[in-house]
Amino acid sequence: MSIPSSSSPSGGSVATVVSPSNIAFVKYWGARDLERAVPENASLSMTLRACVTRTTARVADLEQDEILWRGSTDEAELRPPPPAFVERARRHLDLLRARLGVDARFRIATENSFPAAAGIASSASGFSALALATTAALGLQPSIEEASELARLGGSGSATRSVAGGYIQWPQTGWDAASESGGAIEQVAPASHWDLRDVIAIVSSGAKGVSSLDGHRRARSSPFFARRLETLPERLAIVRRALAEQDFATLGREIEAEAIDLHMMAMTSRPPIYYWTAATLDVLAAVRELRADGVPAWSTMDAGANVHVICRPAGQEDVVARLGDVPGVDRCILDGVGDGPRRTAEHLA
Ligand code: DP6
Repeated sequence: MSIPSSSSPSGGSVATVVSPSNIAFVKYWGARDLERAVPENASLSMTLRACVTRTTARVADLEQDEILWRGSTDEAELRPPPPAFVERARRHLDLLRARLGVDARFRIATENSFPAAAGIASSASGFSALALATTAALGLQPSIEEASELARLGGSGSATRSVAGGYIQWPQTGWDAASESGGAIEQVAPASHWDLRDVIAIVSSGAKGVSSLDGHRRARSSPFFARRLETLPERLAIVRRALAEQDFATLGREIEAEAIDLHMMAMTSRPPIYYWTAATLDVLAAVRELRADGVPAWSTMDAGANVHVICRPAGQEDVVARLGDVPGVDRCILDGVGDGPRRTAEHLA
């Protein structure tokens, strides 16, 4: 990695980065090394554009990093985040400093455009924004590969895929699953390749009961996990081919099956994890009805109750209208494939 470890931070510099979340089509579930996010399998996601974290990092003369946040943009003021959040962010910053060989402390302000910890990967956008904002405040310009490695320090594997736009595989093709390396990311296609939309049906805005980190820890306890690992290379190949050929029916079938597979792993692990609510199942049924009515739309879910409904631009309005009728859907977030993180001069705080 070529980030200069000797680079001296210019005191007082500030940088703000807006970094997107992503939705996995092939899921990262289970880790060989959780702290360094060395996955059991390769995953593939679509970088989003509306669900973002905005993070401002200022190099400051402090004993300890200071962190303020706005859990969602509905809140008026930045405030101290919950202790678990502070602890995880500080841990990330400690690992980042160790990796970069710097000793700077930061004043961090961060906000999400969506509810945190609700199955929309807030840690993906959060940790990618934090890594990118702090390195920028230090005057560093990491490459995409370097940034993706920094983003997952502390264990958010999905953050590694959020440092670039379009359709991202992690680890890259050719990664040796037996290696101790977390691998690099690979852009399978840029956002301009295919305009796919994601209508996110919010059925629960509360924090999920079991974190993804705990889910990864329990993954191997599912009696079906070994079978999952065996079948995933073929699934990944099908998803990549469907993306390349813009074959929406094949892509949709595969990503919906993959999401069910992920939740089957969770529900059959020990102790079991149930992320779904009754409303989740109602949304899945509504999406099947949409297809029966001729609207191509397919469901996927991360480790949470909310459902991401993937569709084409022409189908988006029908999807929103239909999901709005499902009791238990609080609201829908309209999202779609995006170009990845960007720097902005609009600093927080
Ligand atoms: C189910 O360890 O990256 O979303 O840090 O909470 O985002 P967070 O989780 P992480 O695991 C992601 C699990 C997943 C699937 C995926 O995004 O690949």
